[in-house]
Amino acid sequence: MRMVDLIQKKRDGQELTAEEIKWLIEGYVDGSVPDYQMAAFAMAVYFQGMTTEEISELTMNMVASGDQIDLSAIPGIKVDKHSTGGVGDKVTLILAPLVASFDVPVAKMSGRGLGHTGGTLDKLEAIKGYQIEQTQEAFIEQVQDIGLAVIGQSDNLVKADKLLYALRDVTATVDIIPLIASSVMSKKIAAGADAILLDVTVGDGAFMKNIEDARELAQTMVNLGNAVGRKTVAVLTNMSQPVGRAIGNRLEILEALEILQGQGREDVAHFICELAQIMLKLAGVEKNLPEIRENLTNGKALAKFEAMVEAQGGDLTDLYREPDVAEIVEIVAEEDGYISALPALEFGLFAMKLGAGRAVKTDDLDYETGIVFEKKVGDAVKVGEVVAKIYTNQNLGQKELSDFKKNVKIEQEEVKIREILEIVS
Ligand code: URA
Repeated sequence: MRMVDLIQKKRDGQELTAEEIKWLIEGYVDGSVPDYQMAAFAMAVYFQGMTTEEISELTMNMVASGDQIDLSAIPGIKVDKHSTGGVGDKVTLILAPLVASFDVPVAKMSGRGLGHTGGTLDKLEAIKGYQIEQTQEAFIEQVQDIGLAVIGQSDNLVKADKLLYALRDVTATVDIIPLIASSVMSKKIAAGADAILLDVTVGDGAFMKNIEDARELAQTMVNLGNAVGRKTVAVLTNMSQPVGRAIGNRLEILEALEILQGQGREDVAHFICELAQIMLKLAGVEKNLPEIRENLTNGKALAKFEAMVEAQGGDLTDLYREPDVAEIVEIVAEEDGYISALPALEFGLFAMKLGAGRAVKTDDLDYETGIVFEKKVGDAVKVGEVVAKIYTNQNLGQKELSDFKKNVKIEQEEVKIREILEIVS
C-alpha cells in the first residue's frame, strides 16, 4: 500500500477499506507515514468527509494504537463524561463528585485547555499539591476506596490521537466531525468506562457553532459508543455564554465549591443536576431532580470532592483561598436593562490574555486570574451595578477595558436561554 494512493482516493471522494485505514493509522504511529502525508489526508477528509464505516474503523484503530484501561476491578457500572470544550466549563468538578455521592464510581481522565477553552486538569492544578499524574493501579485503587478520581490522560492512551490532534491543530483540520468524533470516542473507549455521557457544546465558544452540526457530531459519537457496547448519551448544551459565573482556574474551583455547598447560581446547579440524572440513569440508578439536588445541599457531593482532593495530594487548607491577584477591576452597567449576550469566545480569549489560558501548548498559566460575572444573560441590571469583576496581575489599559465592556450586551427586552438544548441517544 502507498499513502499517496490513500490520500488520492480520499481526495477524490472514495471510501477507504478497513484494511487501508488500519494500515494508515499503524503507519502513522510507527513513523512510516510522515506528518506531511497525514496532514494531506486530514485535509482530504476535511473536504470529502467519511462514511459511518470509515469513522468506526478509524476510531477503533485509534483505540488499538495505545493502552486500553481495564476498570473491571472496580465493582459496578463505571460512567464517564466528556465535554467537547468551552469557556468556564467547570461541570466535571461538580458533576463527578455529585454522581459519585450516589455510590456510582467515577474514574475520569481529563484534558488541558488550549486557546479560549479551559481544561479540567488545569483547574485542578490550581489546587496546591493536587497530583494529576497517577499510575493505572493507583487510579483504580482510589476509585475503589472513595469512588472518584480525576487524573490526566495516561501518556500511552490512544497514541494516534496524540500525534493526529497536534497535527490537526496546526493544519486547520480540527473542526471536522469525523475527526472530532474519532478523537473523542477513541479516548473514551480506551479509558474503559461502561457508559459515557457526552456534553456536546454549541455556540460561539464551542467547536460546533450551530445546532445542526452539533446534532450530527453527537449522533456520530453516540453511534460509535453504542456500537462497541458502551451505553452512550449526548446532551447538546449552550455555549453562547460562559458556563456559570467564573472563567479562570482558581476562580472556577471556588465556583465549583460554592455549588457543591448548595449555593451559587441556580441555573448552573439545576443544569448539573440534570446531567447527573442522565449519568446516574446510565449506571442504572433512577433519581429525581430533588433527590439529586439534596446531595448538593447536604454536603455529600462536597465530601466526595474533598476526599478526591486529599487522596490526590491537594491541600485542603488552601482549597477555599481567594485568588491572589494584584487587582480586581469592576465592570459596571452603563444602562438599565437585561443582559442579552456575553459572547463566550470573546471572554474566553480575554481570560486567556490574563494568563488563565494558553495561546500555545507550552505557555505557563496564571492560576489566579480570570473573570467573575455577577450578571448573566437574562439577568436584570441597573446602571452602575457591577456586571463582572476582572481578576488580573496585569495593568489593563483603556482599550482592553472598553473591549470588555463592548462585549457585555444589554437590551430592554428580557432574553431567555436554555442550558440543555437537546438530548441525543
Ligand atoms: N476534543 C478532542 O478530544 N478531540 C477533538 O478533535 C476535538 C475536541
